[in-house]
Amino acid sequence: MKKLFIETLGCAMNSRDSEHMIAELREKDDYETTTKLEEADLILINTCSVREKPVSKLFSELGVFNKKKKEDAKIGVCGCTASHLGKEIIKRAPYVNFVLGARNVSKISEVLHKDKAVEIDINYDESEFAFKDFRSSPFKAYINISMGCDKSCTYCIVPKTRGEEVSIPLNLIVNEAQRSVDNGAKEIFLLGQNVNNYGRRFSNDDHKKVNFTYLLRELSKIDNLERIRFTSPHPFHMDDEFIEEFANNPKICKSMHMPLQSGSSKVLRDMKRGYSKEWFLNRVEKLKSMCPEVSISTDIIVAFPGESDEDFEETLDVMRKVRFEQIFSFKYSPRPETEAQHYTNVVDADVASQRLTTLQSLHTEILDEINASQMGKIYKVYFEDLNQDMYVSGRTDNNFVVKVKGSDELLGQFRDVKITAIGRTILTGEIVE
Ligand code: SAH
Ligand code: SF4
Ligand code: F3S
Repeated sequence: MKKLFIETLGCAMNSRDSEHMIAELREKDDYETTTKLEEADLILINTCSVREKPVSKLFSELGVFNKKKKEDAKIGVCGCTASHLGKEIIKRAPYVNFVLGARNVSKISEVLHKDKAVEIDINYDESEFAFKDFRSSPFKAYINISMGCDKSCTYCIVPKTRGEEVSIPLNLIVNEAQRSVDNGAKEIFLLGQNVNNYGRRFSNDDHKKVNFTYLLRELSKIDNLERIRFTSPHPFHMDDEFIEEFANNPKICKSMHMPLQSGSSKVLRDMKRGYSKEWFLNRVEKLKSMCPEVSISTDIIVAFPGESDEDFEETLDVMRKVRFEQIFSFKYSPRPETEAQHYTNVVDADVASQRLTTLQSLHTEILDEINASQMGKIYKVYFEDLNQDMYVSGRTDNNFVVKVKGSDELLGQFRDVKITAIGRTILTGEIVE
């Protein structure tokens, strides 16, 4: 068999795309994966372009890969940066053999055999739905429920790299979930840029028109499926029906991602997010009142153009009120083909760095308090990873990572665990059964 080295950057959608490419190459071209670049016959980088840094890193990394690779090994650039830079990549790095956009990963085997192919069409193509069942974890199945994004957040490049939003037909999703459960997975993880906007547009009128809540109900009927997770829901689409289903459906994990972006209603307007600070807090209140055990994670951008000290204070205010379990926080990064790249009221770079530090230290304080209060609690943990030093780790329903002493016999199993020690990113416990 030939050897494939694949590096996956970016979000869970890219991870799923990589699984699909690995499966296609295995089936059609006899490849198996390797972690050693030097022995690879094919090197793939599945890229992310959501911020500028990973894009500039790409070209230095390509240079290194080109030096280290076997003489006749091919290099392919896939994913979101491939979508937005296209043939520019081959211009800047002429040794790259092909460029394959985020929406075209099903064509991996085709482009492999065409030197200098650039396949970056973001228009809808039915082959996008036909993802292979291969998964890197036997315990959890990532399943796409929609492609692309129809929003126009002014900072975001994703709609340009992944195209229009198209929902995958209900029966295909349910069948894929059923197959993954038949293959041993007890958890599914639904993926889309706006999962709770599911049903917005199907590829043709024959597909049953249903919404995300309906999809969740259908999926939870699958026997032996124990846990359902999803990302990302959009705060704008968190209606009462959705929150009630989330709270009342025992198979849905009580961990919600609520991407805030900013706590200032003025900045949210400039970002065109479609909700205000008050709406966001109202949704959190509804969620916490119906589901007190919920843990909430978020994404925050600091120093969006025009963000004043007072606007930033509003973000800190939301942080204090919601007390997110997890935050993914970034300095605003201007992106090509977005509206905000033309905004001139740029925030000073030192102020931006200071704000990020302030935000992250506030979060660390909150997290330390949340973690400390977990001591002695008993959680059901689904074990997925074998760590060093004879530890096995997994997640609680509400997404805390917990490790216990144990062997691979625990993998794929649920156990009740009592928390006995606290770390910042991982809790330690003992099995209580
Ligand atoms: N569809 C998801 C987001 C996908 S992008 C949603 O709406 O929540 C993942 C995260 O990257 C975003 O939530 C945002 O916080 C961050 N991001 C996107 N564009 C960015 C930019 N130009 N600068 C900094 N962070 C950005
Ligand atoms: Fe980007 Fe907004 Fe779409 Fe999320 S909802 S992918 S932030 S445009
Ligand atoms: Fe990055 Fe594309 Fe995901 S830009 S965050 S890999 S959708």
